[in-house]
Amino acid sequence: MTRNSLQFVRRGRNVRLDRFSPRATVLDWLRLQERSVGTKEGCAEGDCGACAVVLARERDGCMVYEPVNSCIALLGQLDGAELITIEDLADNGTLHPLQEAMARLHGSQCGFCTPGIVMSLFAHYHDGSGATSRDTINDVLAGNLCRCTGYRPIVDAALEVCSRGAADRFTRTEAERLNALRALDDGADVFVGDGAAFFAAPAGEESFARLFVQNPDATIVAGATDVGLWITKKLVPLEKIIHVGRVKELARIEESADAYSFGAAVSLARAAPVLGSIDPDVAEVLRRFGSAQVRASGTVGGNVANGSPIGDLPPMLIAMGARLELRHGGEVRTLPLENFFVDYGKQDRRPGEYVRRLLVPKLESARYFRAYKITKRIDEDISAVLAAFCLTVEGGRIVDARAAFGGMAGIPKRAKTVEENLRGLSLVDTGRWRAAADAVAADFTPLSDLRASAAYRLRVAGNLVIKAIAEVAGLDTGTTRIADRRMVADAAE
Ligand SMILES: Cc1cc2nc3c(=O)[nH]c(=O)nc-3n(C[C@H](O)[C@H](O)[C@H](O)COP(=O)(O)OP(=O)(O)OC[C@H]3O[C@@H](n4cnc5c(N)ncnc54)[C@H](O)[C@@H]3O)c2cc1C
Ligand code: FES
Ligand code: FES
Repeated sequence: MTRNSLQFVRRGRNVRLDRFSPRATVLDWLRLQERSVGTKEGCAEGDCGACAVVLARERDGCMVYEPVNSCIALLGQLDGAELITIEDLADNGTLHPLQEAMARLHGSQCGFCTPGIVMSLFAHYHDGSGATSRDTINDVLAGNLCRCTGYRPIVDAALEVCSRGAADRFTRTEAERLNALRALDDGADVFVGDGAAFFAAPAGEESFARLFVQNPDATIVAGATDVGLWITKKLVPLEKIIHVGRVKELARIEESADAYSFGAAVSLARAAPVLGSIDPDVAEVLRRFGSAQVRASGTVGGNVANGSPIGDLPPMLIAMGARLELRHGGEVRTLPLENFFVDYGKQDRRPGEYVRRLLVPKLESARYFRAYKITKRIDEDISAVLAAFCLTVEGGRIVDARAAFGGMAGIPKRAKTVEENLRGLSLVDTGRWRAAADAVAADFTPLSDLRASAAYRLRVAGNLVIKAIAEVAGLDTGTTRIADRRMVADAAE
């Protein structure tokens, strides 16, 4: 069944749109069509959070409230969701508790960032935890830039309100709003437009696979945290878009005895607790991946398929020995993740073929994982270098090693010479560690760019090799880290 319109819930009503540009963003629609101008545009590239709105959806039988940067989210991505903006929070003229606390505690000066900040906090208020902390709020607001107020009064307001369970108009009406969303879930494939220009959102994998084979020139969109910027910053005239956010098969996380499987359309926010359970360093890198808004929309499949040399997941997954599953029509194949990245901008993926799943092995005992994300600032920054290691240790010696780096070449890449130098290395013979570190120069000839110089990249990559060995050898991470210290070094575990 195909539906030739988009449908979503807005202020208790169903909105149906049967004509819109495939490139239209949610912010375009709000400000230019609906004329709801409370939602602001700052950067138009997902960084500042001035445009944050909330999408309410049903997941696993419950209502979830996800923060989204509307400047890069495509209008078509709204299908099946309820769109909530800053104008909707007050209840019959009474400010929402978050708005009231922000005003009373002086959390707003010029006010430009305020709608986005309140919407990010509104998503947190409704995340079901009924509790918060200063650290949690700092994470929640990592993607909301305020240039004049200073964050202390904002965080104070958030602490006061989010420390108690949600109780507002939205909690009172949740059951009926959930029913309205269920009524929209018709299981139909969405196709709006014609053969030359369309926005499609298939509901199942069979129809998605068929549509992509028929239209291999279409652009797949998952969370649009990369593709959205092609539209707003590079002005790429994308005409055919296939959105995978409704393909149920691609939204699954599965677990077997020795591995996890992540469907390509699983968001980073949903993947984070599972991937983070493999090792605390993965959890920490994911905590610093973009912002809450970027993680709510961005997907594991998008982070791999974009082929970026500075994506955070690929080096970590390559070090773990992950495999990638691709599908073309009815044909499925798997390959080691590192083989997917062929050259800068070139992946082993033919026209009409898509990323289906990532298969990530669990860490066996005696295998130690470490990952380090090097950026200019801790929060919401793209890696200059990302180093990941998986070291197998027996009798005080490294007997097997996998090492992978991002930011050191045109692709995320294994460091084969470093690995050779690590194999057989004694964890007590510190004198030989430097040779293993210096081997990065045989594996990589990095570039200088705005994030880091080539010399800095080589030096930091070598130092990270030493850091990984030192930590696995049992050095207290209080001496190797200024943030995200691990409580116990591995040798003592
Ligand atoms: C403010 C901001 C901060 C960011 N911070 C980080 C960061 O810290 N670390 C990091 O690694 N990245 C970061 N990114 C980049 C981006 O968020 C990630 O790469 C994200 O994982 C992309 O996922 P997506 O679902 O949004 O991809 P999309 O934008 O939807 O797609 C990305 C690419 O993958 C293709 N694609 C998507 N799904 C499939 C599929 N199933 N099969 C084939 N092709 C597919 C698309 O066609 C496109 O080429 C940031 C982006 C922004 C805007
Ligand atoms: S306008 Fe800056 S994140 Fe959208
Ligand atoms: S109040 Fe002015 S940018 Fe935050």
